[in-house]
Amino acid sequence: MKGTTAQLAIDGGTPVFSEPIGQNLGVRKVGAEEAHAVAALIRDGVSGDPIGTFCKAFTQAHGVRHGVAVDSGTAAVHVGVVAAGVEPGDEVILPAISDVGSVKGILAHNAIPIFADVNLQTYNIDPVDVESKITDRTKAIVAVHLYGQPAPLDELMDIGRRHNVPIIEDCAQAHFAEYKGRRVGSIGDIGVFSFITGKHMTTITGGIVMTNNDAYAKRAELFSVGRGEEEGTKGGIFFRTHVGLGLNYRMNPLGAAVGMVQLDKLDDIVRRRRESGQLLDRLIRDIPGLSPPLIIDEARHAYWLYAVTMEEGAFAVDTYAFARALQAEGVSCMPKDYYLLYDHPAFLDPAPPRNPEYAFPRAVYDDRERYYKGMCPNAERGLATHIVITWSEFFTQEDVYGIEEALRKVADSYRA
Ligand SMILES: Cc1ncc(COP(=O)(O)O)c(C=O)c1O
Repeated sequence: MKGTTAQLAIDGGTPVFSEPIGQNLGVRKVGAEEAHAVAALIRDGVSGDPIGTFCKAFTQAHGVRHGVAVDSGTAAVHVGVVAAGVEPGDEVILPAISDVGSVKGILAHNAIPIFADVNLQTYNIDPVDVESKITDRTKAIVAVHLYGQPAPLDELMDIGRRHNVPIIEDCAQAHFAEYKGRRVGSIGDIGVFSFITGKHMTTITGGIVMTNNDAYAKRAELFSVGRGEEEGTKGGIFFRTHVGLGLNYRMNPLGAAVGMVQLDKLDDIVRRRRESGQLLDRLIRDIPGLSPPLIIDEARHAYWLYAVTMEEGAFAVDTYAFARALQAEGVSCMPKDYYLLYDHPAFLDPAPPRNPEYAFPRAVYDDRERYYKGMCPNAERGLATHIVITWSEFFTQEDVYGIEEALRKVADSYRA
């Protein structure tokens, strides 16, 4: 499978992997067992309560009392924000680096995203910057466990308690990651997950919102699957009353059936991703100029993506050229600049919104100075110095050694 030559594949050399690895991993995640569960459910006329069963199993796996299954992680963040009691015009603090799914729910609720800077070594939200950005309009803090590594929850929970602001854990990239021995999603006031195909486990598309707080749970349920309706009777006949805004974000029951099978595999999936990730952690240390993710003492990383940091000044090329060369060797990877949430026209473009019917909240447009390039310097510096490798439970030891070889080959060629 592997060739060896110092000439980079991008320059016409033989690639380390003759078949690129890291492709179609989401497709490979599901197969006969999931198909069987879905077929059985359809055969039975989609009877019973597959969504409730999945919710119960997932929340029990986290020791959390309430869960509402929804149809995406984006919806889960939206519901989490609503459940936390955020109202239009309120501020919600979140890290400057994340998937856009972390911010869309805040905007959908006409709340104002306030971006906090990140730690330059973990790329996770920096509690000191969070605290400096709290105002009397701050109504929630979203802690994203980026790439699979838990955010510093002790510090964030402490800030939340002192300022009376709930913490929403965005665990969309960190299934079964642990903080001080506890699974993420069970530590903050609210935990949200995505189950889109590329994640550690999937319901094909889907998400969940979990909480131990009865009031949050009630609000989450009413808003996300209860459509803002209360059920009763009128003249002895069933009757529904609209008591507030509510959507229909309900998870597809067929997805819930897939989720039950996947949940059974999740421990093993995360164990395998961790083992191979930790192998690369060890191997990469010997490559001058590159370093593995820095993992904080409290955390057990779940390795959704593998972040490789390029020491500043160590290479003659930027992250894009480095990633292109690595891709040519057959490694699926990329810089993550588009994860800088405010660095998009929707926030930085001073022109009126291109699609006013889909405009962000008025408050975001009315105060455009709020967002500017350079506002979170660590986030910008960190993104300029790391790339991420698509990670997978299907990687063998040989694959990991191949990734190391490719990294070494590219690093040696581009060393400054
Ligand atoms: C951190 C984070 N939050 C939220 C989401 C949104 O999830 P979904 O794609 O299921 O809407 C994602 C998606 O990948 C994510 O990575």
